[in-house]
Amino acid sequence: MMIATCVQVALSLLILTMKVNIAILLLIISGVCWGSELSATQQLGRYLFFDTSLSLHSNRSCALCHSPTHGWSNTFNKTIDIYGKPSTLNTPSLLNVIHRRQFSQTNPRATELEQAILNPLFSVDPLEMGMTVELLVARLSRKPLYLAMFETGFGDSEVTIERVATALEDYLSLVQSQDTRVHRYQQGQHKALSAQELLGWQLFSGDRLNCSKCHGGVLFDTPSDEQEPFRNTGLYGALDAEGFPSYPMGQLGLEGHSGKKKDNGKFRIPSLINVAHTSPWGHDGSIQSLESLLDLYARGGRKLTYGTNQGDGRAHPAKSEWVSGFQITRREREALLAFLNALSIDRDWTRYPFNSPFCEQADSSLCDR
Ligand code: HEC
Ligand code: HEC
Repeated sequence: MMIATCVQVALSLLILTMKVNIAILLLIISGVCWGSELSATQQLGRYLFFDTSLSLHSNRSCALCHSPTHGWSNTFNKTIDIYGKPSTLNTPSLLNVIHRRQFSQTNPRATELEQAILNPLFSVDPLEMGMTVELLVARLSRKPLYLAMFETGFGDSEVTIERVATALEDYLSLVQSQDTRVHRYQQGQHKALSAQELLGWQLFSGDRLNCSKCHGGVLFDTPSDEQEPFRNTGLYGALDAEGFPSYPMGQLGLEGHSGKKKDNGKFRIPSLINVAHTSPWGHDGSIQSLESLLDLYARGGRKLTYGTNQGDGRAHPAKSEWVSGFQITRREREALLAFLNALSIDRDWTRYPFNSPFCEQADSSLCDR
């Protein structure tokens, strides 16, 4: 079937591009065919994911912010809009996104993956990619390769936003793995974890540290009380105009959607799978190391002593009762870090189908054509 897909794309391309230089054509076809173990829509989604022409100034793709080699996130702490202005949010990883039910760090109503995929293309605050529907359709419709791929994937070459979203979603369905050493241990491979990592896991799951009360379930992102997964972990406690400890403006969390003060600073509980590879951490990328993150939990909140956000997050009234602070020895701290590292996915994300089809890498051995 996959070979048939490939031949179909090739044929559609030939018909659509009779006038195009035959050498270029053969190159493109061999590129599409190389990866023919993907379905037609997954392959289309892969092209779209890495294509910078999906942004207004043709200089950023989804992969700029969700880079496969940076844990499907990136290394900057706050996302920058198309004019270089920083927003207030760090970029979440797209690993296992198809298994999530919430697609925003702050908005409980964002429950549709399709919407989360289209959001960056058309959102105006921040202007992540700055596109309009007309511009996107016009750009893609001008490219014979896309017309051929739409035809193969959907039966005709019409470019629609729904099809763009479907193809991207189909590609993102490949971006999943729960194959960590912790999961392997759970499946009975008892040599998968060292004694130190097991100690870390024990601490993580115990009542002293409370970690698994919020980071539960297969993805380590599900709270045990089955309430909405938005929590305040005491990152900020700057006094607002009325003298209440508060998160910075633009980082109100759930409050920004509910309008309720009690929701100030409540952000979505992130999955911890592969967490060692998604630095910097926190909803705003303000946590630079996992060590400092543990210190913050041990203290029961973060205290900032300089800058505009100074204040004590421990005193925040909306902070979860599960973040109440704890004593921890150096040995235990190291064990906990070892456990977080054991949640890594050991996979080469530079390889097909996670590399760019546009062959932009300096190392051309990573290209699929
Ligand atoms: C400029 C950086 C940037 C670009 C470009 C970008 N994203 Fe994102 N993406 C983000 C940020 C920041 C969030 C978090 C938004 C929030 O929580 O409100 C996000 C969230 C998401 C989510 C939801 C993830 C989750 O766990 O909730 C999906 C899905 C997603 N992006 C897909 C895409 C796709 C597909 C593209 C390309 C069409 C893309 N993104 C382009 C920065 C970016
Ligand atoms: C009350 C629920 C809760 C508890 C308890 C909790 N966490 Fe979290 N965790 C969160 C939330 C919510 C965030 C995101 C906070 C933010 O950025 O505002 C987070 C963020 C993290 C991150 C950063 C992830 C990323 O991708 O940025 C790590 C690592 C982490 N927690 C580990 C732990 C460990 C280890 C413990 C136990 C010591 C723990 N958590 C206890 C809710 C919790």
